[in-house]
Amino acid sequence: MKIIITGALGHIGSRVVRELPKVIPNPEIIMIDNLLTQRYTSLFNLPANANYRFYESDILSTELKSIFEGADAVLHLAAITDATSSFQNRKQVESVNYDGTVRVAETCKEVGCPMIHLSSTSIYGTQNELVDEDCSYEDLNPQSPYAETKLKEEDFLRSFGSDEAFQFVIFRFGTICGTSPGMRFHTAVNKFCWQAVMGIPLTVWKTAYDQKRPYLDLIDAIRVMEFFLKSDKFDGRVYNVVTLNATVREVINSIKTFIPDLKVDFVDSRIMNQLSYEVLNTRLDEQGFIFKGNLEQGIKDTISLLQQATPRNYTI
Ligand SMILES: NC(=O)c1ccc[n+]([C@@H]2O[C@H](COP(=O)([O-])OP(=O)(O)OC[C@H]3O[C@@H](n4cnc5c(N)ncnc54)[C@H](O)[C@@H]3O)[C@@H](O)[C@H]2O)c1
Repeated sequence: MKIIITGALGHIGSRVVRELPKVIPNPEIIMIDNLLTQRYTSLFNLPANANYRFYESDILSTELKSIFEGADAVLHLAAITDATSSFQNRKQVESVNYDGTVRVAETCKEVGCPMIHLSSTSIYGTQNELVDEDCSYEDLNPQSPYAETKLKEEDFLRSFGSDEAFQFVIFRFGTICGTSPGMRFHTAVNKFCWQAVMGIPLTVWKTAYDQKRPYLDLIDAIRVMEFFLKSDKFDGRVYNVVTLNATVREVINSIKTFIPDLKVDFVDSRIMNQLSYEVLNTRLDEQGFIFKGNLEQGIKDTISLLQQATPRNYTI
C-alpha cells in the first residue's frame, strides 16, 4: 500500500508514520512537510518495516501530481494549527490551510486517489449541551480564524466531491492528547502538562474551567484513520472523532494525580465563549468503531516524557 502523508512531521503525522506499518504490511509511506515548524526530530529512528521517503516540500508550490500518482490514499495533515495565533496570521492560515486543501484535493481527483481530511471540533459553538454531525448549520460557530478556515475547507470538499469522481472523508478531531516524536505544546492538555512539570502556573481561560470540550487520544486518532483505510470507506461524509468530553477542571484534576502541587492562573483569551457542550460520535458509533483511548494515560505519558527535565520528583 502506498500512503501519502502531508504535514507528516507534525504532532499527529509523526506518530501516524510509525503506527501504520504495525497494521499495514510493508507500506510505502511518502512524507511531505515544508519544515515550517522545524520538527526534524520526527524523522529520527523511523522503523525498518516500512519503505519511507521524505519530501521537504510546500503543498502550495510543489508539483504534487507525480508524488501522488499510484497512491492508495492521501492523509492531508499539513496545516498551520495554532488557533490562538491565527488572529495575528489570518491570511497565512487561510492560504496554507484552505488553498492547500484545495490543491491537495484537486490533485487527488486528478490521479484518482482518495483523501482523508482532518477538520476540528473547534468549528462547533452550539447553545445545545450535546451536538453531533447532524446538527444545524447554526450549531457550527467557529471562534477563531483557524476554525473558520476549517469549516470553509469542509464546505469546499463537500461541493468538490459531489460528482463522485473524488473520494474523501472528513474527520472532526477533538483536541489531541498523547505523545509523539513531533508533539507540540500549544493545545490544552499538553500545555497544562508542560506548565505543571515546569512548576509554573497553568494558564486557564477564565470562562473555560467548567465548560465541557472534546478531547481525542492520539491512539484513537490513528486507529480511526486505519479503520477507514482498511475498509476503503471514503463516503464523502463528516465524522466526529472524540475519545471523551471533559471540563478543564477534570483535565487539571487528572494532572494533579501526578503533580499535586500545581497552581492555576485564570487569563483572558480571544477564543472564549460561555458555551459548554459535548460532541457525540454518532456516525462512528453507527460504523461500530470502538474508542480505546484514555486521557489519564495520555497525561501520564506526557508528564513521564518531561519528568527528567526538572529536579522535582513525581510519582508516575
Ligand atoms: N492536534 C490537535 O489537537 C488537532 C485537533 C483537531 C484537528 N487537528 C488537525 O490535524 C491536522 C494535523 O495537526 P497536527 O496537530 O499534527 O499539526 P502540527 O502543527 O503538529 O503539524 C502540521 C505539520 O504541517 C507542516 N506544514 C505546515 N504548512 C505546510 C505546507 N505549506 N506544506 C507542507 N507542510 C506544511 C508543518 O511543518 C507541521 O509539521 C491539522 O489539519 C489540524 O488542524 C489537530
